[in-house]
Amino acid sequence: MLLTREEMGFDFQGAKFDRVKDRDLLAWIASQFLYGEVTGIQVGKWILHAPDVESAKFLARQCIEELQHVDVFVEFFKWIGARPVKVHPVVKLLSSESSDWEEHCALEMAQGEGFVLMIFYAIIACIDDEKLAKRLDAACRQEEGHVDFGEQQTMKALARNPKLRKRLLGLHLLSLWVVKRFEKWIRRRVDKDHPVMRMIPDYLARIVQTTDLRLQRMGMTHKPLAEFGRLETFRYITGALARKFARKFAFWRWFRKDRLTETYMRDEYLHEVMQLAEVRNAAGIPVIKAA
Ligand SMILES: [Fe+2]
Ligand SMILES: [Fe+2]
Repeated sequence: MLLTREEMGFDFQGAKFDRVKDRDLLAWIASQFLYGEVTGIQVGKWILHAPDVESAKFLARQCIEELQHVDVFVEFFKWIGARPVKVHPVVKLLSSESSDWEEHCALEMAQGEGFVLMIFYAIIACIDDEKLAKRLDAACRQEEGHVDFGEQQTMKALARNPKLRKRLLGLHLLSLWVVKRFEKWIRRRVDKDHPVMRMIPDYLARIVQTTDLRLQRMGMTHKPLAEFGRLETFRYITGALARKFARKFAFWRWFRKDRLTETYMRDEYLHEVMQLAEVRNAAGIPVIKAA
């Protein structure tokens, strides 16, 4: 990953949730996660559009891992003795499906799963159950792999096509704007006497700050978000939405053959075996020897 655990961490100063008193609150938090983990299986769709076989294999493993994370949250609900509740619309919006591979890697994996990872770290720090914390920690390590994949794929995509940057940055800025609004909403409602919740507004600000650092390290932006003026941010966001909309209805995309089922023969994965066949053909040796 481009950021260390320390850089993504937050000091809750030893504050803990109370499993009994905070049951409803913990059920609300876990419900947002449960939704996020269930939407994690959207990666199934991206297997078909993966740029190469290795990426497709990674996504297939990720799909299984996200379903295992659903199990972890089922265990969490059993631990608190509560049932899941409805997901918040902001979480729904932030988990919505991307329109292409580059968007998926940058928005859903590097940024979105980066948010999830930070909240995982926070829950581990604030619950008083060693066994559950260990299970969450194992899920965290898998999430770190997902974030890393998203970051690497995004950097590759930007190196291949620098023009992508504007659209992707605009979409990043849009989701960060949503998170900032959410932070203000929480700040007004938070219980200021609760040992953990009173730190949540600062914690959300930390998430935005960490995401800012990730965007800079991926080469998505060369300056901190604080240096973006309102008009500049607005231009990036509206530009990105216009491009996203135009791409959705671009008829030429309907005929594009970018599915793995069309591209696998040119894949690096088959390079060695293809070369072997060429050498054998050149030497007049049949690829499959007659018995
Ligand atoms: Fe997950
Ligand atoms: Fe994940």
